[in-house]
Amino acid sequence: MKEKPDRAAWLKGGETQCNVQAERWARPYRFVLLGAPGVGKGTQAELLTERFGSCHLSTGDIFRAAKMSSCGCPRGPVMAEAVKYMDAGQLVPDETVLALIVERAKCFQCGGGFLLDGFPRTVAQAEALEKLLGKQDVKLDAVLSYELPLERIVARLSGRRTCPLCKRVYHVQARPPKRRGLCDHCGAELFQRDDDRPETIRVRMEAYEVSTAPLIAFYRRKGLTVSISAGETPEETFERTLEALNSRGTLVF
Ligand code: AP5
Repeated sequence: MKEKPDRAAWLKGGETQCNVQAERWARPYRFVLLGAPGVGKGTQAELLTERFGSCHLSTGDIFRAAKMSSCGCPRGPVMAEAVKYMDAGQLVPDETVLALIVERAKCFQCGGGFLLDGFPRTVAQAEALEKLLGKQDVKLDAVLSYELPLERIVARLSGRRTCPLCKRVYHVQARPPKRRGLCDHCGAELFQRDDDRPETIRVRMEAYEVSTAPLIAFYRRKGLTVSISAGETPEETFERTLEALNSRGTLVF
């Protein structure tokens, strides 16, 4: 079983101690992962974490963990409202997302680095992130923008299965677990997400086009966007990611 940062601090809130051993890694890498729902951001985040040790920080994971009450996360009325938006495929309001991020802002200083998956998702969130990082004197290394045609994305989402405990992601055909329905990493029973229904997928795609796609240009103007085709296997897409980062001189060995 491969060692993996436990992400407890991120899921529960900024005060929890996590198990990142920064000294094991060459340097902290800090990336934002962009792309439509189902393009494979979470899958690439797992591979990037294994290679660089950076913590995978996903706002979607926080909302799902709160929904399942599986992490001891507080679930007050604001979080209950956020989960309703998520189940309908709509974006959670910026103010709720930003309150969550501010609570966890200490994680940005982690010596292991971080991968932001699902945040920022609007220009307002990106501007707020810029301010938060600026205050902590932390800089992003790159924004990885994954691209894939819509019909292939829908096929990926409908076959997705997720581990409720360690959050690993599988696909019934493209990336099946070794034992049917069970997580390879921790043995938990895999589940299908409520927002992976066809009618909800359509709403999520629209929200992406209207609110999140403009971030590609936002970060391009800052010289941070790295575009990567996500049409190959996860491992090939990961190799493309490394090549793209290497060719712009981001990686140090
Ligand atoms: P979130 O959890 O962030 O979901 P998402 O962006 O919709 O992205 P997904 O997790 O669906 O897809 P992914 O790109 O990670 O793909 P994956 O690797 O799983 O957000 C959920 C909701 O929370 C939002 O809709 C919103 O309501 C709310 N929310 C969260 N953050 C918010 C924010 N900042 N502001 C407002 N609201 C927010 O891969 C998909 C499948 O494909 C898997 O089965 C995988 O095994 C398979 N696969 C992956 N790569 C490949 C490959 N190369 N070849 C074949 N299969 C592959």
